[in-house]
Amino acid sequence: MSTATMRAIVQTRYGKTGSLELRTVPRPKPQAGEVLVRVHATGVNDADWALIQGKPFFVRLFGGTRGPRGRILGADVAGEVVDVGQGVTRFSRGDRVFGDLSEHGNGGFGEYLSTSEDAFTRMPDSLSYLDAAALPHAGNLAMQSLFDVGQLRPEHRLLVNGAGGGVGVLVAQLAAHHGVRDIVGVDDASKQEFLREVGFARTLDYRAVDFTRTGERFDVIVDTRLTRSPFSLPRALAPGGVYATVGATTASLLGLAIWGRLISKVTGRQLRMLWLKANKNTAEVAALAESGVLAPRIDRGYPLAETPLAVARFGAAEHRGKIVIAVVSP
Ligand SMILES: NC(=O)c1ccc[n+]([C@@H]2O[C@H](COP(=O)([O-])OP(=O)(O)OC[C@H]3O[C@@H](n4cnc5c(N)ncnc54)[C@H](OP(=O)(O)O)[C@@H]3O)[C@@H](O)[C@H]2O)c1
Repeated sequence: MSTATMRAIVQTRYGKTGSLELRTVPRPKPQAGEVLVRVHATGVNDADWALIQGKPFFVRLFGGTRGPRGRILGADVAGEVVDVGQGVTRFSRGDRVFGDLSEHGNGGFGEYLSTSEDAFTRMPDSLSYLDAAALPHAGNLAMQSLFDVGQLRPEHRLLVNGAGGGVGVLVAQLAAHHGVRDIVGVDDASKQEFLREVGFARTLDYRAVDFTRTGERFDVIVDTRLTRSPFSLPRALAPGGVYATVGATTASLLGLAIWGRLISKVTGRQLRMLWLKANKNTAEVAALAESGVLAPRIDRGYPLAETPLAVARFGAAEHRGKIVIAVVSP
């Protein structure tokens, strides 16, 4: 292949994963302030799935109401800087970098991308590209939900609803490192053993048990799904406790937005929705990964050409931990 082109998974329309095509496209060139990165690995996230389907409808505001027309998705990227534009100060050729590109045009489902150096953080030497690509989005959500919103302390009791995905695993590892002993993970029956392996002391099957009806109370609840009514959530919180949801459907989010503040005021338990601040904590995530505190669990690595299969597995929620595209085979 010429150095002017690259392979990429291009989205041609909204719909199922059949809207993703492997194509040869022009290779980008770094503009002022940008780094050209050879992508080694890209994590698959809910945001990719939503933008592929065009659902919920409001995501089309970001992707174009008439259709995506040749866009390259993929926000969680790990790769190597191969060229730099004018004025780049933080990186040079050969640097290994990773970051969440959701506010910088995405592009991880292609072999090269060029974007602002601000999107990237240097990768620790000990980290593989596959592991690094599993970390920016989920690591920032985990840190911000536990510490910025949850104000987690070592003596706290913690419950994670929707615990078996990319965020839940990192939440358990971070909380254990922080000294929290009683960590409960809620997910489906098939993932209970996996949850214990990654550090949950106790587990619940959400199809068999409603965590808001067990009589137990937690100081902090992190939720990746918001599947219970906002009126039921205070039942599972200790006085002064904090519930932080990082993910929700549009309807459940609306319910929390309308009622959350009033319920918090009346019950003395905080119900909060976290809005991700992309890359705010990526440097800390890098340090925690280097010291072994954060060790993402990769469900499977897929070659670039199999990105549609990988995304379909994510959409069907068959994964445990993170699905990662190995754009360059490791
Ligand atoms: N707040 C923000 O600004 C922001 C930014 C980016 C992403 N997000 C959101 O953050 C979340 C990221 O989580 P993630 O990557 O860990 O998701 P994930 O990998 O999809 O994991 C979620 C887990 O929840 C489980 N689950 C499904 N229904 C459930 C229920 N009723 N009760 C309990 N568990 C249930 C799923 O299992 P099964 O489906 O197999 O049963 C899956 O194991 C996503 O919802 C994403 O949209 C938020």
